[in-house]
Amino acid sequence: MNIGIVFYSKTGNTLSVAKKIQERLEKAGHAVNMEQIGIAEDKNKADIGQYDLVIFGSPVRAFSASPVIKEYLNQLNEGNKQAYCFVTHFLPFKWMGGKSALEQMKQFCKKKNIEVSKSGIISWSRNRETAIGKLADEFAKEA
Ligand SMILES: Cc1cc2nc3c(=O)[nH]c(=O)nc-3n(C[C@H](O)[C@H](O)[C@H](O)COP(=O)(O)O)c2cc1C
Repeated sequence: MNIGIVFYSKTGNTLSVAKKIQERLEKAGHAVNMEQIGIAEDKNKADIGQYDLVIFGSPVRAFSASPVIKEYLNQLNEGNKQAYCFVTHFLPFKWMGGKSALEQMKQFCKKKNIEVSKSGIISWSRNRETAIGKLADEFAKEA
């Protein structure tokens, strides 16, 4: 499959998770393109039309998805697409921002007719290596 990972990352956490997911999917034989948005004006325009599957990643910002990923999802054209989503956050429990951020991303996707079939939350302060490994394995299953 041709897979795109479209993500925002300010301090590198979401980037490092995206890289592990990329490695895992490539090991499973997929072509994976990394698209980091929000770095410069022109880099906020990742075109997902070319992908069979797109994975959106974002840090949590004040119990929400980051404004960068929300803006990005909001400007997408409607498309019959399959997507996975993940968020990274600092606090130890999923209800401390992770769940609500993910829910927002799913709502944005729904509005664009993008079906989110898998998702995950990575807490930076709690068992993160194990959680990242599990998430990457889950995303590689049936992808
Ligand atoms: C302005 C701001 C707000 C944040 N709000 C939350 C929050 O509500 N819950 C949480 O667990 N972490 C919060 N964090 C921590 C980040 O979500 C966490 O460090 C994330 O992994 C950073 O990802 P990045 O390195 O890809 O930018 C916040 C960080 C910043 C800078």
